[in-house]
Amino acid sequence: MTAPDPAALRAAAQVPADAPLPLVLHGQPVLHTPAAEVTAFDAALAALVEEMFTTMYAAPGVGLAAPQVGVGLRVFVYDVGRGRRGHVVNPVLERVPGELQTDLEGCLSAPGLEYDTPRALHARVTGVDVTGAPVVVEGEGLLARCLQHEVDHLDGMLYLDRLGGRTRKQAAKDVRAADWHGDAHRVLTRADVLEQEARRAAGDDDPDDDEL
Ligand code: NI
Repeated sequence: MTAPDPAALRAAAQVPADAPLPLVLHGQPVLHTPAAEVTAFDAALAALVEEMFTTMYAAPGVGLAAPQVGVGLRVFVYDVGRGRRGHVVNPVLERVPGELQTDLEGCLSAPGLEYDTPRALHARVTGVDVTGAPVVVEGEGLLARCLQHEVDHLDGMLYLDRLGGRTRKQAAKDVRAADWHGDAHRVLTRADVLEQEARRAAGDDDPDDDEL
């Protein structure tokens, strides 16, 4: 599958041309459907990745998968700090067996919510970049959590779907009560881009903003 024209994504949500791509919210079918493999490594794909970085930083978030901007393609971007930044096309996830980590996790597609979510401590993703060249990303802690979260998105799954028992029930309740519930998109603006650029330039690396 090939990448769509970003102008069409903006038109669908009626946002201006200088705004980041709108963030698709929980409940929209594209977030709950497995994404398709990328088959065209063209300028449109490179443009999509650039747009996704802009949207992720404006949100702000530390990871973003293409379905979160309404594109059902297997692509994600990430920046978990200390230079650990990149993108992967057609990723394949390997959870390294052994230790688990449990920490609060949040998602840009269900903003303002976070729950303790068990994940593998180590994870490795293989895939390609926008030119089709091989990429390997491997890490632990937040990077491993991010890799697992983003590949889940590409499989049509949110972290909320991984919660167990009582937490899952509470999360479903919190989603229904959220002020964004029922909205298709969260619209970001050029002002969000500038504000977050300034924040990053000032070295503010607020861990409370770790939505993925
Ligand atoms: Ni997410």
